[in-house]
Amino acid sequence: MSKLKVAMIGGGGEGSFFGKVHLRAVGLDGTREVTAGVLRHDPQAAMAAAQAWGIRGFPDLSAMLKAWKKGQVELDYAVVTTPNFAHFAAAKACLEAGLPVLCEKPMTLTVSESEELARLVKKTNLPFVLAHTYTGHPMMMTAKMMVAEGVIGDVRKVESWYNQGWLSTALEKSGQQQASWRTDPKRTGISNCGGDIGTHAFVAATWVSGQAVKKVSARLNRFVPGRMLDDDFNVIGELANGGTAIITATQIAIGYKNDCGFRIFGTTGSLEWHQERAEALIVKNGGADQTFWINGGAGIPRIVSSYQRSPGGHNEDFFEALANLHTTLERKIRKRNGEKGVLEAFPHPGAPEGLAGMKFVKAAVVSSKAKGAWTKV
Ligand SMILES: NC(=O)c1ccc[n+]([C@@H]2O[C@H](COP(=O)([O-])OP(=O)(O)OC[C@H]3O[C@@H](n4cnc5c(N)ncnc54)[C@H](O)[C@@H]3O)[C@@H](O)[C@H]2O)c1
Repeated sequence: MSKLKVAMIGGGGEGSFFGKVHLRAVGLDGTREVTAGVLRHDPQAAMAAAQAWGIRGFPDLSAMLKAWKKGQVELDYAVVTTPNFAHFAAAKACLEAGLPVLCEKPMTLTVSESEELARLVKKTNLPFVLAHTYTGHPMMMTAKMMVAEGVIGDVRKVESWYNQGWLSTALEKSGQQQASWRTDPKRTGISNCGGDIGTHAFVAATWVSGQAVKKVSARLNRFVPGRMLDDDFNVIGELANGGTAIITATQIAIGYKNDCGFRIFGTTGSLEWHQERAEALIVKNGGADQTFWINGGAGIPRIVSSYQRSPGGHNEDFFEALANLHTTLERKIRKRNGEKGVLEAFPHPGAPEGLAGMKFVKAAVVSSKAKGAWTKV
């Protein structure tokens, strides 16, 4: 089996965050490797960053895709890990050239871009995975399967949350890279907190429960003076089955780091999961609580354990969760290539979930401006 060759778009340069997380996640299984990339916007900086990573650099995306088309560079998929505003053009160019994509969340800057990208994914039928990292945690995958199998009965209510404290002051004024673009509407979109981490909470609520959010009533706050966009995002939603969703995200919760999780209440039981204790999934049915512990075996669906790398009791966490999304894309690509014995890919989020997330955030922004008026998603 040859290693899949991966191109990175974005992620290079001193002080950049998630590109390096993808770099590790790609390499984790020894079946994929980052070999090329356009790691920064500026052509010279992109070449220098590629040299620093020891990969083949390109000054821009069209040069890389042209070289791929001419057979001058071998590629199996691209990872888009730029700030939000640059996702659309990069993912679109790759798909139009015929290259599968693993795209960072939120999928694009605007709903209309996401609609176009979702249409393109459908038309090209190319593998496309949206990088909601936490959906790669085996216990979050298990929770999705448990709900689908009726372990908690019919879903009545979902609570999901993402609390952070890193933007409780005007960090962006110091020029801090990640804060600067996330709080700038031109580079992040119409919502800072909602787009950046509200979408993670949204995916937790909808992807795990299997229920779409149909309408919302929202209150977005901007607590830090001078900030242009929300730093606190609170939504009540109506689920497709008439149930209720409470989806919240905040960046002003001092002392909180990546407190993301969900509770799902059904007609016969409840599920609870916390990202900062990702190896445990709590199931309650009115008797003694049960904790399903990541273990690669008992009680864990086979499709989930097929993603695990170590025997039970060994920690698997953030990098593994992101690696699992790469594994899903890898399985789809190898299957499409006609390779034998490829394991089943888990239904991780893709373009439909990305589009739904963008519509959800837009509806929340509209509702909040109308003092919480119920707004269709
Ligand atoms: N899935 C997750 O859990 C998760 C976590 C963190 C960030 N993210 C997402 O990853 C993306 C990047 O976030 P980050 O925190 O790493 O930001 P960052 O600012 O640390 O990194 C952005 C990178 O993109 C490069 N870049 C900017 N414009 C470019 C362009 N036009 N072409 C090529 N490269 C370009 C920058 O040089 C930098 O290397 C965002 O969309 C963010 O939402 C996802």
